[in-house]
Amino acid sequence: MNHFLDIHKTDAADLRGMIDQAGAMKQARLGRPRAAADDSQPLAGRMVALIFEKPSTRTRVSFDLGVRQMGGQTMVLSGNDMQLGHGETIADTARVLSRYVDMIMIRTFDESVLIEMAEYADVPVINGLTDRTHPCQIMADVLTYEEHRGPIAGKKVVWCGDGNNVCASFLHAAGQFGFDLTFTGPPQLDPEAEFMGFARDRGSAVRIERDAVKAVEGADLVVADTWVSMHDSQSSKERRHNMLRPYQVNAELMSHARPDALFMHCLPAHREEEATSEVMDGPHSVIFDEAENRLHAQKAVMRWCLGV
Ligand code: CP
Ligand code: NVA
Repeated sequence: MNHFLDIHKTDAADLRGMIDQAGAMKQARLGRPRAAADDSQPLAGRMVALIFEKPSTRTRVSFDLGVRQMGGQTMVLSGNDMQLGHGETIADTARVLSRYVDMIMIRTFDESVLIEMAEYADVPVINGLTDRTHPCQIMADVLTYEEHRGPIAGKKVVWCGDGNNVCASFLHAAGQFGFDLTFTGPPQLDPEAEFMGFARDRGSAVRIERDAVKAVEGADLVVADTWVSMHDSQSSKERRHNMLRPYQVNAELMSHARPDALFMHCLPAHREEEATSEVMDGPHSVIFDEAENRLHAQKAVMRWCLGV
């Protein structure tokens, strides 16, 4: 069994295998009704717990549907409604859940919750987002890029805005899949040095460029995310907006990227803030393919975790 805790903690060849399997599984069920079973049912008889300590639309629905398509069943649990949210330890929760279910996906705040869950669970644990990383999202994003433009290795990805959890997983992916990443945003919101160091140590060109126009020159992929993440306090909203406004992805900024550049956003978006609707609904945008690909990418992640 394997935990899927982060992209940098997962073998690069295994990551590549998951992306390729996800693409093949997607092709194999093209045109079928959403809840129709896949031809093979690798999760038959398996129960998966999906724990949410933060809101979610895509992660919740894509994991739930993906398990069902592969023949398994799910329990969607809200952290608040569990004893976990009322003082029971993470370790005890992990040991108890391991007696009932075959796999645990958790979306939580502090990364230490995820790590402790994995330490004490006897079943695979999947990171469905923490304050620090969001690996499942970037698996979907790599799949999406490659569907549209072929191998992502050697490409230039430009992250615009807050060097947050999604940006961190993009940096991990840069190191593992061999692409370059330029960050453009205010210095207060730079990605952690550890994330940049991981990508650099594996040969990726990681750059910080404060001028958004210069940053996106030659970009193959431009990425934005919300300016206020779920773990950020609402009282920081105005300050963050003021810092981040110069990094909005709009049509003018996109015009400096390569003509065939893609635009991505993990969603949910705050339209006309981090990106304009003109870009989000425009010819470069693949945001809804990304959302769909959460399903296909995570199905491959779950199979890898269970070894099925
Ligand atoms: N992108 C993403 O993780 O979306 P949700 O918060 O809706 O799950
Ligand atoms: N950075 C965002 C991503 C949401 C999917 C957040 O953590 O709220």
